[in-house]
Amino acid sequence: MRQLIAGNWKMNGKLADGAALAASLDAQAGDLACDLLICPPATLLATLAAQLSGSKIHVGAQDCHAKPSGAHTGDISAPMLRDAGAAWVILGHSERRADHGESDAVVLAKVLAAVAAGLAPIVCVGETEAQRLAGEQNTVVALQLTGSLPPDFAGVVAYEPVWAIGTGRTPSEADVAEMHAHIRATLVSHLGATGGGLRILYGGSVKPSNAAALMSLPEVGGALVGGASLVAADFLAIAHASDAVATGVRAG
Ligand code: PGA
Repeated sequence: MRQLIAGNWKMNGKLADGAALAASLDAQAGDLACDLLICPPATLLATLAAQLSGSKIHVGAQDCHAKPSGAHTGDISAPMLRDAGAAWVILGHSERRADHGESDAVVLAKVLAAVAAGLAPIVCVGETEAQRLAGEQNTVVALQLTGSLPPDFAGVVAYEPVWAIGTGRTPSEADVAEMHAHIRATLVSHLGATGGGLRILYGGSVKPSNAAALMSLPEVGGALVGGASLVAADFLAIAHASDAVATGVRAG
């Protein structure tokens, strides 16, 4: 299975620096065995999608509204994102679940809207530190998956422990492997055979120094990268670590 290395730029980047970062990635990406995706802020989508048309770098959004249009001031719909050139959309990121009170039901409605508009969804799940300390991580993540994914889901899942996002801390390799096995089993029971083939990304403080170890774990199908995706050399180093896994060469 090709790994997916996705960059979540979050609320970072104006036109000039976003275009420069995209150009730098495009110039240096070369031949990669993984799929490479950037998810810039919505203000940059149309520009960067046009700039990268014909390139191997995919472009996606960070959220969408559940309705295709209407009286929703400040929101952006899935068809609008598609029209701007997005092919993917991140949904249910913990920052949206926390900052905007997004429940699993809201995320599910957004997944349906994204798919209807032709966007490939990346649905994020993950426990808080308190939940992990209480040993509740498997229950929490299973509930998020069954609540956020429709029975015919065919997109990507990203496991992002909330306490690992932007902190420089990551779970142990054993904990990542255990959670990814748990997510795989939950996907198979919720989605049937399709659940056996979906990519499960790991996200949370992925950087060049830990990417090779994380990407080579069983059931890890790529990475969702925040901070390190804003530096071309770091994001590409993570992509190359994924490539080394694909070709059986264990990188540094
Ligand atoms: P981080 O963010 O890589 O900066 O920890 C990951 C994410 O939130 O997707």
